[in-house]
Amino acid sequence: MGAIPVHDTPPGPFLDYAAAIKEAIDVPVVAVAKLDDPVLAASAIADDKCDFIALARQMLCDPYWPQKVKQRQLDKIIHCKYCMTCHTAQQKGEPIRCAQNAKESA
Ligand SMILES: Cc1cc2nc3c(=O)[nH]c(=O)nc-3n(C[C@H](O)[C@H](O)[C@H](O)COP(=O)(O)O)c2cc1C
Ligand code: SF4
Repeated sequence: MGAIPVHDTPPGPFLDYAAAIKEAIDVPVVAVAKLDDPVLAASAIADDKCDFIALARQMLCDPYWPQKVKQRQLDKIIHCKYCMTCHTAQQKGEPIRCAQNAKESA
């Protein structure tokens, strides 16, 4: 698995690493990678695996994720499919765009 996990990687693949780092040091730890499921994101913090979660691709896909979670509109979240179209564009030197939410991320 690479540093940017793709669609067939299970959610939250680095959470156990975050938890191990949190055990070892005494500064806030931010977990990242495939944490777009609000239940998983909340439980990662509640279970003390991390202090914060970061969203990269999910925010390209639906920048209203935080607002929708706060307002309990989970069914309205447009979830990232982890297809890597955004990253491929960046690697080619093109503007980053989202395959399923081009308007939002333009
Ligand atoms: C288009 C794109 C550009 C990224 N650029 C950087 C970068 O410049 N530096 C970095 O540390 N990580 C970069 N990342 C990795 C993200 O910060 C993040 O660690 C990774 O995408 C996993 O999180 P996610 O599942 O929330 O996308 C990039 C990811 C994507 C998709
Ligand atoms: S193009 Fe959109 S759906 Fe595909 S990985 Fe990037 S943010 Fe997610």
